[in-house]
This record gives sequence, structure tokens and C-alpha cells, in this order.
Amino acid sequence: MTLHRPFQATNGESGSASSSGNGFREAGLAALLGLAIASPVLLLGGARVYGDWRALGAARREVVLNATAYERLVAGDAHPLIEVTDATRGRELFVSVCAACHGAQGTGMEGLGKNLVKSDFVALQTDEQLRQFIITGRPDAKPMPMPPRAGRDDLTDEDFAHVVSYVRGLQDPRRMPALPELVLNTAPSESQKASALAAAGGDAELAQYIASGDTLFHSTCIACHGKGGVGIPGNGKALASNEFIRSLDDDALLEFITKGRGPSDPKNTTGIQMPPKGGNPALSEDDILDIISYLRTLQGGAPAAASAKN
Ligand code: HEC
Ligand code: HEC
Repeated sequence: MTLHRPFQATNGESGSASSSGNGFREAGLAALLGLAIASPVLLLGGARVYGDWRALGAARREVVLNATAYERLVAGDAHPLIEVTDATRGRELFVSVCAACHGAQGTGMEGLGKNLVKSDFVALQTDEQLRQFIITGRPDAKPMPMPPRAGRDDLTDEDFAHVVSYVRGLQDPRRMPALPELVLNTAPSESQKASALAAAGGDAELAQYIASGDTLFHSTCIACHGKGGVGIPGNGKALASNEFIRSLDDDALLEFITKGRGPSDPKNTTGIQMPPKGGNPALSEDDILDIISYLRTLQGGAPAAASAKN
């Protein structure tokens, strides 16, 4: 209606004097003009519908592409081989940091970390995005969070770049170079030796066990129980000043750590799995006894902290 008003304003007065033929032509003109004015609107509307349809197609395409990222990666041409030093350092870190939750081969652990090999998410990220993801983690994920920096504040951003390279090789073995035999650095540091000796009251032999247990704890158990056993909310309980540990002798504790505590175990309080041997099958009985010696040094004289009970 408003579209026709200017036309009527300029021609309306002569309209009354014109013949019916003229009136007919004017009506035709009016209709044409109306169409001319309306057509961009119609075209725009059409473009919007077409655009929506295309976007829907693109969204669908993206869903399909995202859900087949891993498949496409391993079916496509291989990316370049990863550098040996890069992958070797990445493996050392992966085995001691990520394996507890994601398994030594990165294929995931029931109730803990996801499969990183057959992961479309991993396949879709650039190396830099993946590194940032590990640094940020998924702290709110249920039932178990992926802890920021994998719970390891002592590792550098650079360390995580090596981890990413190694994960690339796990996901696409065509990229994994032949690696030297795995050697984990299990030698206690000078400060670990010194605090072990202090905790052992000068007993050099006991100090050796404690220092070894300290090192093992901080490679296998730290991911879930935190540095010095302070606990990581949602991942593992505090093991310092812990009543459960105090209540068991070494043999019972050895049995507990060897077996772990599944989420359906009636004694489980968090609904999260404590994996057998803390997820590190390479730990020997002696290794676990060393860890127990170390755990004993964390119990102190203070009453068990409230956090140890929940
Ligand atoms: C304490 C356990 C734990 C540790 C240690 C851990 N993760 Fe995770 N991670 C998880 C959990 C749990 C998830 C799944 C979170 C969710 O439900 O979205 C996860 C998810 C991920 C994902 C996303 C996978 C996907 O498909 O969505 C990546 C990538 C990842 N972790 C990499 C790593 C790397 C690399 C390390 C070692 C540097 C590591 N994680 C150490 C528990 C852990
Ligand atoms: C993947 C995560 C994870 C790792 C790695 C891990 N734990 Fe645990 N641990 C847990 C969880 C979760 C619990 C609590 C289970 C529950 O709810 O009862 C737990 C419980 C425990 C408890 C019992 C504490 C209590 O108060 O009931 C001890 C002891 C323990 N862990 C020792 C260890 C030791 C030693 C290691 C290393 C060899 C280790 N854990 C590695 C997740 C982990």
C-alpha cells in the first residue's frame, strides 16, 4: 500500500479526468511498478531462504566431516614423519603423565580418560589447538574432569608440544618414527634424597626407599592425587594426612594399591576408579612398597584433614 502512494500522489488527480482505457493502463503501470519495487524484496527473501538452505547443508556437512575426522585422517595421505627427539620426549611424558588416565597406547581407560587415538576431536585440532586444549583441560567434564595441564604444573608449554607430537604418532602410526627403547628417569633428585633422609630420621636404607617412592609417586600417582598427595578434586583423594592409609599396615596397603578400587566397589566414595597399580602395570611389588614408605612420610602427626575423608 505505502509503496503505491507516491505513484497515486503524482498521477491520482489526472486519474479522474482520464478515460477508462487510461485508467486500465495506469493500473497496469502501477502493478508493474509495484512489482519492480517488490522484486528486490522478493529476491532478497529468496536469497535468504537459499542462504538458510545452504547453511543447513554446510552445518550437516560439518557434522558429517567432524564425525569422520579420524577415519579420513588414517585413510588419507600421511602427514610427515615426526622427528625422533620430539617423539621420544613426548613418549616419556605421555607414559608418565597421560597414560594413567588414557592408557599407555592412548586408547583410553574405562571410566577414566577417553580414547585419544580414535578421537575425531584430536584429529580435528591443529597442533597448537591441541596443545592449548591440554593446557586448559576440561575441568568441568563429568564424571571425571580432564585436569588443566594434565594436573602437572611442573611441566612447561614446550613439554606439551612434545606430547602433542607423540599423540599424533599414536593416532596415525605412519607418522611415528622408530624410537629408542623407553627409559624413564626414575632417579630421585638431590632434594628428594635430602627430604627422604630427614623423614627417615637419618636411616640411610629407609631414606633410599622413601626417595624412590617419592619419584615413583610423582610419576604415576601425581596425575590424580596431586603433588605431595594433596589430592585433585574430581580426580583423586588427598593422600596426605589420610585416615585410610593410617589404618592399614604395609601389606594391606600393598594389596589395596595393587587391586585399586573400581567405581562400583561399595567402598568407593567418589564414583571414580582408582586403577590397579595406579594405572601403571610396570610397577613391581618393591616399587609399590617404596611408594608406601613415601606415603607414610605424608601422614604427619596432625589429625587427618577433612579432605581426606571425602
Ligand atoms: C587424571 C586423568 C587424566 C590425565 C592425567 C589426562 N587426562 Fe586427558 N582426559 C581425561 C578425561 C576424564 C577426559 C574426558 C573428559 C570429557 O568427558 O570430556 C580427557 C580428555 C582428553 C582429551 C579430549 C579427547 C576427546 O576426544 O574429547 C584429550 C586430547 C586429552 N584428554 C589429552 C590428554 C593428554 C595429552 C594428557 C597428558 C598430557 C592427558 N590428557 C592427561 C583425563 C585425564
Ligand atoms: C587415574 C587416577 C588415579 C591414579 C593414577 C591413582 N589413583 Fe589412587 N585413587 C583414585 C581415586 C579416584 C580414588 C578414590 C576412590 C574412591 O572413591 O574410593 C583413589 C584412592 C586411593 C587411595 C585410597 C584413599 C582413601 O582415602 O580411600 C589410595 C591409598 C590411593 N588411591 C593410592 C594411589 C597410589 C599409591 C597411586 C599411584 C601408584 C594412585 N593411587 C594412582 C584415582 C587414582
